Amino acid sequence: MSISETVVQAPIDNPVVDALLNRRSCRSFQSRSLSREELQTIVLCGQHAATAKAREPWHILVIQQAALLDQIAEATRLGMRESGIEEVMKFAENPDFHCFYHAPALVIVSGDGSFYAEVDCANVVQNMCVAAHALDIGSCYNGFFNFAFRSSRGPELQARLGIPEGFQPVVSVALGYPDGPVRGYAQRTPEKVAWLD
Ligand SMILES: Cc1cc2nc3c(=O)[nH]c(=O)nc-3n(C[C@H](O)[C@H](O)[C@H](O)COP(=O)(O)O)c2cc1C
Repeated sequence: MSISETVVQAPIDNPVVDALLNRRSCRSFQSRSLSREELQTIVLCGQHAATAKAREPWHILVIQQAALLDQIAEATRLGMRESGIEEVMKFAENPDFHCFYHAPALVIVSGDGSFYAEVDCANVVQNMCVAAHALDIGSCYNGFFNFAFRSSRGPELQARLGIPEGFQPVVSVALGYPDGPVRGYAQRTPEKVAWLD
């Protein structure tokens, strides 16, 4: 039984394919902590993503302190409010907006600024999302958190989290047990695929 509400199937039945097709973004989490083994497994799967020239140009930070996660979420909200981007500011106006949806864990992946660093960091997060799904754990890829690090509060926050100098937060993922069936967005557009048979 998948944690996702909608089940997508491929012509070939396979458990890895199933996880890839049915991972969806989870935006409602239980407060219950994940186990160390679950988090270690998810992070290890992230570390085994493809990485250009095998450089691993990343710093991976796992945070489970609820108060700290709330502080990062609040810094994100403030950064979004100051962004000047109307669509983004609208989200931040909602006092209930919590960019991590109160998930009990967050993994921040920072890149070293080298040529493929952002691509490699994204691969890490994508692998972690699929691994989480395979373990019946909800995940939500998060880009909004960058508004915290790219705001005036960014350098202080980065130092407090121990993200090394020379690294820039790129992507993050909220993780936790889903609080009900995971809805996400299961549609994809066949017309965006070209075939030259
Ligand atoms: C780079 C990137 C940044 C994202 N940032 C956010 C975010 O800040 N908040 C959020 O709720 N979802 C975020 N998402 C999730 C997308 O909204 C989601 O993947 C998309 O709607 C497709 O739905 P699915 O993940 O359920 O298949 C992000 C996804 C990516 C790839």
